[in-house]
Amino acid sequence: MTTTITPTDIARTEDAGLSPDWAEQVRSLAEQMDAVILAHNYQQPEIQDVAHHVGDSLALSRIAAASPEQTIVFCGVHFMAETAKILAPHKTVLIPDAAAGCSLADSLTVEQLRGWKAENPGAVVVSYVNTTAAVKAETDICCTSSNAVDVVASIPADTPVLFGPDQFLGAHVRRVLGRDNIKVWGGECHVHAGINGRDLAAKAAGSPEADLYIHPECGCATSAIYLAGTGVVEASRVQILSTGEMVDHARRSKAKQVLVATEIGMIHQLRKAAPGIDFQAVNERASCKYMKMITPAKLLRSLQEKRDEVFVDVETADRARGAVEAMISIGAPGSGE
Ligand code: 13P
Ligand code: SF4
Repeated sequence: MTTTITPTDIARTEDAGLSPDWAEQVRSLAEQMDAVILAHNYQQPEIQDVAHHVGDSLALSRIAAASPEQTIVFCGVHFMAETAKILAPHKTVLIPDAAAGCSLADSLTVEQLRGWKAENPGAVVVSYVNTTAAVKAETDICCTSSNAVDVVASIPADTPVLFGPDQFLGAHVRRVLGRDNIKVWGGECHVHAGINGRDLAAKAAGSPEADLYIHPECGCATSAIYLAGTGVVEASRVQILSTGEMVDHARRSKAKQVLVATEIGMIHQLRKAAPGIDFQAVNERASCKYMKMITPAKLLRSLQEKRDEVFVDVETADRARGAVEAMISIGAPGSGE
């Protein structure tokens, strides 16, 4: 019988060989090389705990643009590190594993976007930050889940909009703004699409007192609105939130229990923010294999060997920068620390 060794097995073996003071080594190397470590809310708990800042896509982009350090170590997926490089082209941007991709970013190629634009002349292109640098270079304004509604609301109401690539976030924007001149690309994140209305309805029925925090990329976002609309769950207990907004809400919440529909890494940051609340994942299997490619061993190696460095060619970065800078200037501050 042959045994297949997976990248996860190799990562576990590497982590098992780490010295117990790996976190101190990471912090001290970061200080020596004038580096700031950023971690997305979906990172493994150990990575979140060693990072200087943890947050959602918008907060981390803003920190990347404003931080004084010469090097940014991005513990997240590749499009996030690319966005940091676009905003801070003179800085060194490292990601502990450049192969950490995103199924949602893969669902809209630059060729597809060019074709879509050609079919819809005059439309303003709004792209989710979960896209490649090449797609951002063909975009008018980028957005994240925490400011997508504000970004589209900033476009005159009679101007048609092309929104991509996430169909569930696009549907959320259309629903909130009540605007029918928004065409939405049919892309999705495999993790969030897998959190469906059935899972949500079953969990909500089992925990009738719980609040619901739903990420707008989820397949169950429409079901959540339906549950609220039909009175199955009190409307005030259903919140559609970016990951950073979930943390902000948890800090202010008086709820005893919250059902969380997003990637399971989120639960760690929520429990830290509000230790008195019982947070439960709507789908415990909703884990992003790309986010989990960033391990303590790879983070340490990234600092020791200055890898993997992220590059965006100058022309693409120059064309994408306006759309990304517009994104970080729209929407409420906060959503990260
Ligand atoms: P936010 O952290 O902006 O809510 O985005 C979630 C996400 O899917 C990142 O990959
Ligand atoms: Fe991409 Fe989904 Fe993973 Fe976020 S959770 S990085 S959208 S694949």
